Amino acid sequence: MAESFISLTDVRKVYRTRREEIEAIQNISIEVQAGELVSIVGPSGCGKSTLLKILAGLHPHDGGEVRIGSAAEPFDPSRDVGMVFQQPLLLKWRRILENVLLPAEILGLPMKQSRERARDLLAMVGLAGFETNYPYQLSGGMQQRAAIARALVHDPKLILMDEPFGALDALTREKMNLELMQIWRESRKTILFVTHGIQEAVFLGSHVAVMTARPARLAEYMTIDLPEKRDLAIKTQENFGEYTRRIYKLLDMD
Ligand SMILES: Nc1ncnc2c1ncn2[C@@H]1O[C@H](COP(=O)(O)OP(=O)(O)OP(=O)(O)O)[C@@H](O)[C@H]1O
Ligand SMILES: [Mg+2]
Repeated sequence: MAESFISLTDVRKVYRTRREEIEAIQNISIEVQAGELVSIVGPSGCGKSTLLKILAGLHPHDGGEVRIGSAAEPFDPSRDVGMVFQQPLLLKWRRILENVLLPAEILGLPMKQSRERARDLLAMVGLAGFETNYPYQLSGGMQQRAAIARALVHDPKLILMDEPFGALDALTREKMNLELMQIWRESRKTILFVTHGIQEAVFLGSHVAVMTARPARLAEYMTIDLPEKRDLAIKTQENFGEYTRRIYKLLDMD
């Protein structure tokens, strides 16, 4: 089998504050292949964001091994990661296009090409015509779409999404799920997607990593055996229901 794109072996993370040590991640091993979309679910405070921060190179880990990329294609988190958070975090004094361009600016990429790419990405997420608007002139869902375009502008190899649709209403969220599916199919990026939505996790994921309460361990790494091209009707299929029921059970919520 080809070498995994991401290989986590017995990864451990302890936060040390002045008063205490918090074991956030006890022992996690996961292999992610290039081009997969892996959903991550688990109880609040279990260590999901911590895991993404380790992968983004924002936090060191305290044990085990984290490998991304290969010797032939070394991975540089400062260039190769795009992140999307629960809030869009757009700079309110910058127009939408300028917000999307920010990572390219920071990395010193050629601006002319980046500008073109930013326009294409805005069109892809359905925001053509809003390039010169300011964030406050867009709805929450539109702002989050701009944040997704921003995460893609420097063509990163890995997209880390931390509950990106958590703040959206149910209908907008379903629409964003469909759009993300399409973006993923077109771009073939490797995506790690943290969510509290069990249905969302199954709908989007090639796999679902189910984590335990803190300290986080992997309760199960599920392979979601559904067709790659999915529409909302798939949620009524029997095996979709089986996957969600299994996750509720693992999370002790059934
Ligand atoms: N910088 C930090 N310093 C100390 N403790 C931290 C720090 N960041 C996170 N923690 C602790 O580590 C644990 C895991 O936090 P984390 O944010 O990774 O959880 P999470 O799974 O993302 O939760 P949620 O679903 O609520 O976002 C929590 O107990 C949290 O209090
Ligand atoms: Mg979190």
